[in-house]
Amino acid sequence: MSVLNLPSFLWLWKIAAWSMGLALATYGVLFFSGLGILSTRINRQARPASLRKFHIISGIVLCLLVLLLLAIGLVGTIGYYGSLGHSPHLIAGLTVVILVLLSGWSATQISPQKSWARLLHVGINLTLFVGFIFVSLTGWQVVQKYLP
Ligand code: HEM
Ligand code: HEM
Repeated sequence: MSVLNLPSFLWLWKIAAWSMGLALATYGVLFFSGLGILSTRINRQARPASLRKFHIISGIVLCLLVLLLLAIGLVGTIGYYGSLGHSPHLIAGLTVVILVLLSGWSATQISPQKSWARLLHVGINLTLFVGFIFVSLTGWQVVQKYLP
């Protein structure tokens, strides 16, 4: 027996869908501000301090959105089934959360002495793109059964 009935869940998945839209937009913003940082470094141009600040603030927003999505997914699934692991969406979701947190951590390691951190940061974020597609497709799939 489910703890909450089915129609009352729809609002939760609507918040998930909107947060996901925001998360994807934030990813795009990070992609372009990251390219901006990369190009000032390669071309040895002066880099406006605001560019880095903007990139970091957007990065923190992305971390928070993904953690919100994780919380919604866990609460909604446990509320409905009483357990986890009902589709590949679980693996997709956990992968994305881990990648975003790793990306944030690798960003804190970036410095002129540690070029590996920069490579790691960019590598994780390119992988993250695939993760976002995977989690969107699997999320869209499972949300179908809650639709009226
Ligand atoms: C998880 C959140 C993120 C945080 C906290 C973050 C933070 C940072 C920081 C601190 C730097 C170093 C800036 C410097 O050199 O002074 C950086 C560089 C960069 N970031 Fe991010 N970032 C995040 C996500 C992303 C994402 C999602 C992308 C791409 C889609 C991205 C692309 C880049 C690129 C291309 C660089 C430049 C690397 C270079 O100079 O070679 N970042 N980021
Ligand atoms: C970064 C984005 C996301 C993360 C981290 C995430 C995370 C999770 C997790 C961990 C679960 C539990 C899955 C299980 O135990 O089987 C879940 C369930 C769920 N998520 Fe997401 N999710 C994300 C995006 C989405 C999106 C975009 C949608 C679509 C609107 C969505 C809809 C759902 C639904 C309907 C469930 C219930 C699973 C079921 O009925 O089998 N999620 N989510």
